[in-house]
Parts: sequence; structure tokens; C-alpha cells
Amino acid sequence: MKPRTANPTDEKGLRALAEAHGQGHVFRFWGELNAAERSALLEQLSRIDFDLIGRLVAESAGPPPGVQAGSLAPAPIVRVPRTDEERRDEARARERGAELLRAGKVAAFVVAGGQGTRLGFDGPKGAFVIGPLTGRTLFRHHAEKVLATSRRHGRTVPWYVMTSESNHEATLRHFRESGLYGLREGDVRFFQQEMIPAVDARGRFFLESKGKVFTSPNGHGGSLKALHDSGALREMRERGIELIFYFQVDNPLVVMCDPVFLGHHSLAGADMSCKVVRKTGPGEKVGVIGLQDGKLTVIEYSDLPETEARATLPDGSLKYWAGSIAIHVLSVSFVEELNRGGFNLPYHRAEKSVPYTDESGALQKPSAKNGIKFETFVFDALGLARRAVTLEVRREEEFSPVKNARGEDSPDKARQDMTQLYLSWLEACGARVERGPDGSFPGHVELSPLGALDAADLRGRVMPGMLVSPGFVL
Ligand code: UD1
Repeated sequence: MKPRTANPTDEKGLRALAEAHGQGHVFRFWGELNAAERSALLEQLSRIDFDLIGRLVAESAGPPPGVQAGSLAPAPIVRVPRTDEERRDEARARERGAELLRAGKVAAFVVAGGQGTRLGFDGPKGAFVIGPLTGRTLFRHHAEKVLATSRRHGRTVPWYVMTSESNHEATLRHFRESGLYGLREGDVRFFQQEMIPAVDARGRFFLESKGKVFTSPNGHGGSLKALHDSGALREMRERGIELIFYFQVDNPLVVMCDPVFLGHHSLAGADMSCKVVRKTGPGEKVGVIGLQDGKLTVIEYSDLPETEARATLPDGSLKYWAGSIAIHVLSVSFVEELNRGGFNLPYHRAEKSVPYTDESGALQKPSAKNGIKFETFVFDALGLARRAVTLEVRREEEFSPVKNARGEDSPDKARQDMTQLYLSWLEACGARVERGPDGSFPGHVELSPLGALDAADLRGRVMPGMLVSPGFVL
């Protein structure tokens, strides 16, 4: 929660503050509110940074910041190994990463404060069922990976889960009802990011109800401050954690606390690192890694000029081919330093449809976009890092996000990709997969991360020649 910027019992002062910022209408229904609703409104207003919103609204009047094509250049990237030397580098990185895990210096951190509106799922996205056969949720899937990673390295990997006001209670309920998915009480820790009001075309707040301003999570960039304000960062220090493995709740293929990634980050003495995959095409909705005025950055798909998105190299491949899969390593010391200096990440704005209470007190749910939401993006911190590593990984092994109800980046696609990955592990161990004449597999298989984090875990458990048919669960 945001620290108070004003006294929540000072009705007069808060009224004056709101009036001075053109937001006096938030008191429109004051006469209809009971005592509890009144104090809740004052409490909410006392946490709003009116100056910040005023500044963001003023900036919204100008053109969006955008990206000047001329200032962009491709970034250096550690590629998927193709040469012996690259394979040796990878082995070195893997060993360093494993050492850090064995020494208990790594925490896992998932950002799960978003609202998942595109998926059309009512609840925290982590509670979405991703397992085609077992019915496991994204939360269970990630939790089992965290647990299996701890077991593999003989040291606990604590798991930090960032939620927001919009899903905090529901998230806690899911974890509690599932017995924390087998994790120990002190080894999973929840905290909330800040919320920020949306505004209409005139820069005015919306009322979500008669006594509440409409707010939404302030973007995953808010995690860097929330880690500090919640005390999580201090706790990490106390536990001896040095590196934070950051991932999004929506990607079931995430390689949890990937030692290779941790190792490259550590060997390079980096502050913050990113994983990328080769984009499927110029239009894929992922941010691309590039250098902007010499600084490493992720340019969001919506900000990348069309000419740059389509630009090709002499061999015909995309110039900006490296799509961010939103997996990072952050050094604890870097996040501490940022918070010491009172850093500011830029706010990006997105036009969205925002439900609101109209002047008559009726709730309106417009289908058209009527408001602007403000969000900060974690990858903007790359520009503040002294050193950063960008690591290319294979899409089929690490990235299949659940974002849309159907089509690309949908649950169906993610389930197919999970099945294909598991089949490749089973085949690598000598299992015989019952495929159709065209090589396709008519169904799903599912492996629990507790049983297998990768093909290596299956060796000895899968007998060569073992037949794998649709419905296989291990
Ligand atoms: C995101 C990245 C994009 C990347 C892609 C990979 C942004 C703006 N873009 O796209 O560069 O290529 O993922 O899958 O992030 N979240 C919070 N709090 C918030 C907002 C989001 O915790 O305030 C979390 C969500 O719960 C989710 C993740 O951040 O886990 C991604 O958010 P989303 O808004 O869905 O990003 P995308 O547009 O999908």
C-alpha cells in the first residue's frame, strides 16, 4: 500500500486538496455515504499522489513519448549456443548458477498483480487451470517448480508473490485452500503493489462507486518499489539472498530460477538481465530488446515504429528479432540502490474502458475506451543498470504465455506447447510416442514439475521403449 500523503481524518484538507487538483467531484455523493464509507473514501484519497496525477495528465496532453527510429540499434545478445566456445560459456554459467542456488542466494519472484482482462477470467490469473489432464492451476504449476528447484539444489528458494488490491485476498485464499501447494509457511510471502487512479479525457478521476475512486495496479514497474516498501527486500537480505529471479504469472513454460541465466548474470556482474526469444514475425506482441541512445531497453510492441518492426538484415531476418519474454534477474543490491536514490520509472499510458458511477449515481460499463490508465514497466529499470545481460533462449522450451481467451497466446496453445515439451523430454529418454501418421499427437500428456523439471529428471524413470499415448500423466 502507498504511504499516506495526507491526513486521512482531515476531511477539510482533503476536500481542498481534491478541489485544487480539479477532482472535487469525488465528494459528489458525500451526503449519501455512511460513516464507514466516508472514512474509507478519505483514507483512499489520503494515499493518492495528486501532484503526480496532475503531472501525468498534463503530459498526456502532448504526443505520446514514442521512439525515434534513428536512436535505436540492436543490442548485444548471448545467443543459444552454436559453437563449442558458446557451449563452454553456457556450461560455466550453469555451474555458477547452480552454486548460487546451492548456497541459498536466490529468490523466486512472480508478478501477479495484473487484472487479466484479455483472458476474460474472473479471478487471479494464477488460479486459472492450465493443466489439461490434472486440472492444475498456474499457481500450483509455479509452486511445484519452486519446490522442485529447492529440492534439486538442497536449499530453499523462497517465493515472493506480488499481488494488487484487485486480487490480493483472492490470491491468499487460493494459496491457503491449497495448503500453500506444499510450500512452508515462511517460504512464500505475499505483498501488494500500489494502485493509481485512471482519468477521463479531461483528467478527472472516475468514481467506481459513490464512495470510491476507480484505481488500477500501477504496472509491474511498481514491483521494484513494492519489494522495498513491503519489507520483502530487507527480508531477502536477512536470508542471504543476492539474486531475484523475476517472472510473470502467465507463462507456464518458465524455467524456474534457470541456473544458466543466473550464472550469466552473476559472471557478468550485472544489475539486471533479460531473456529473449526470436520473434515469430514483425507483428508479434512482445517488447523487443534494443539499444536506445546506447542504453539497453525494451521497446514495447505498441511503441516500436512500424519501419523498425519490419526492418530486416541482409540475410532477410528481422533486425529487431529479440522479443522479451519478461523474465529477469535482478540483483538485490541494485533494487536496494534504486530505492535509496528515490528512483522514478516513466509512466506509460493506455486507453482503456473504465466502469464508472455517473452523475445520477448509476453504474456505467462502457464498451468503448473512455479513460487513461497509467503504468510503469519493470524493464524501464534496464536503463538504470550499469551492466545487463540479454540471453536468448528457445521459445519451445521457455515461453508460451496465457493472455487471450482464444488463438495466439491462449490457454489451448499453452497446453499444446506444454504437451510438445513433455513429449520431447519423454522421447529424449527413449519413450515411444504414439503419434499420428503426420507426426501429430492427438491429445495431451502432463508431467508434474515435482517429478520432472526437465528431461534429466526423467532418466531412470522412463524405460526405453515405454509407450506414451494421449492422457499420459506422471
Ligand atoms: C508483457 C510485456 C511484453 C512482453 C510480454 C511477454 C508489458 C507492458 N509488456 O506484455 O514486453 O513481451 O509480456 O509475455 O509488460 N502485472 C502486475 N501488475 C501490473 C500489471 C501487470 O503484476 O500492474 C503482471 C501481470 O499479472 C502479468 C504480467 O505483469 O503477470 C504481464 O502483464 P501484461 O499487462 O499482461 O503484459 P503484456 O501486455 O502481456
